[in-house]
Amino acid sequence: MTYVRKNAGTLTGAERRRFVKALLEVKRRGEYDEFVRMHIAYFSPDGEHKRRTAHMAPSFLPWHRRFLLDLERALRRVDSSVTVPYWDWTRDRTTTSAPWTADLLGGNGRRSDHQVMTGPFAYQKGHWTIKESVTDAAFLTRDFGRPRAPIDLPTKSDLEWALKDPVYDVSPWDSTVTRGFRNKLEGWSTGRGSTSWRNHNRVHRWVGGAMLGAASVNDPVFWLHHAFIDLQWQRWQRRHRGARYLPAKPPRPADAQHNRMVARHEKLPPWDVTPDELEDVSGIYRYA
Ligand code: CU
Ligand code: CU
Repeated sequence: MTYVRKNAGTLTGAERRRFVKALLEVKRRGEYDEFVRMHIAYFSPDGEHKRRTAHMAPSFLPWHRRFLLDLERALRRVDSSVTVPYWDWTRDRTTTSAPWTADLLGGNGRRSDHQVMTGPFAYQKGHWTIKESVTDAAFLTRDFGRPRAPIDLPTKSDLEWALKDPVYDVSPWDSTVTRGFRNKLEGWSTGRGSTSWRNHNRVHRWVGGAMLGAASVNDPVFWLHHAFIDLQWQRWQRRHRGARYLPAKPPRPADAQHNRMVARHEKLPPWDVTPDELEDVSGIYRYA
């Protein structure tokens, strides 16, 4: 049976409660921090000469798709009615709209140290202590809109700019490419100032705090944001019928990108799955 991932803004009170409860239980079991650790481990930028899988690479989309499926499976072991909701930041754009309500993810951090003080993930509630991090703060932090250097959420037209590109990705398949759906959606750019962060990246910047670095998984909004990004991949596939994940084949040994990323039929570490096998998830879930 396929299940449905819903817009966070349309969840009923009971659905919000069950999602939060399942997250807290996955955290209590120690499984949540394994997801944080894994994301930190796969956060290798293209400046490092390793194989890039999760970011700055074509497999940004399938890597996070599989990552979300793993978290969703952990949640559904706790409560089989739960799925990961998505945050449509082209519609819910204020600091108090979904998903920032006290019964879902809680709100912004306080001014002094950006500590989140409201909702189920506030440190003083005692259920959400950050253990795996690149800093040593034990509490969740957010800094909506980055008041010191203001940044806006991406808009519908920013997203449209990515969706209308008919090519999945282009050589050299990294953070420097200016064409291709993948990087237009992932959002790396060589520009300066606030235009240097687009779509996916820009949302991480707008939330701020824990969402800024390799340990961004510590903020549960990570999953809601990435579910919406995952939905864009489906929208792009529907719009460009027959367009596929690229590259179809690994670059030749002489190519500087040889062994630096994952082609369509190569295994996507750390899983035993290929991007090809993750292009169609219609048998697992759909978006409402
Ligand atoms: Cu990531
Ligand atoms: Cu992300």
